[in-house]
Amino acid sequence: MNLILATRNEHKLLEIRKLFDFAGVRVQSALDFPEVPEVEEDGGTFEANAIKKASTLCRVTGFHALADDSGLEVKALAGEPGVYSARYAGEPVDYHANNVKLLRELQGVENREARFVCVMALAFPDGRVETVRGECRGRIAAACRGTNGFGYDPLFIPEGHEQTFGELEESVKSRISHRAHAMQQAVTAWKQLLAIPR
Ligand code: IMP
Repeated sequence: MNLILATRNEHKLLEIRKLFDFAGVRVQSALDFPEVPEVEEDGGTFEANAIKKASTLCRVTGFHALADDSGLEVKALAGEPGVYSARYAGEPVDYHANNVKLLRELQGVENREARFVCVMALAFPDGRVETVRGECRGRIAAACRGTNGFGYDPLFIPEGHEQTFGELEESVKSRISHRAHAMQQAVTAWKQLLAIPR
């Protein structure tokens, strides 16, 4: 059977490809299907966006499709930036400007609790869609620290650590991140489904 990945991010493609690399499953990406339209991520939840991306890809290609959506939720900001994480400081996407805005919003705020969330959706050609969710709890630092990773990594201190994702080894992040947790769940939940063609 064919499994199509919605992401055009080479790093994510490689990671997911490795996870779903088992007998009978041929993993391809949206890049192999130029007719797939760009999907507007206008949902109010990570689930809604992931489902929209997976369903569109499944409908256009006719194959099983996997999509993800992720972002940062800050408790003191009622879950913001949430689904607006990429464009928190406006267009075009600017990671540094997003971090500056987040620090400004949290100036003088004592509760720095936050979590990264990653939702993955699998759309089946018969119309069903299933989702799994991975989270990584932590807190927002007082200032940006470190150059590893991307996005909010220089500001995010994962639970059980004192350094930000920007400072920690990438191997630590790839073990404990929201994306790692979502992927583990995805493999557990869907390996069987995908290995047995319907
Ligand atoms: P996407 O859905 O994976 O494209 O992520 C949307 C936005 O959430 C990104 O542009 C980042 O701002 C933020 N984000 C998601 N995952 C991470 C991460 O692992 N580290 C830092 N920022 C992230």
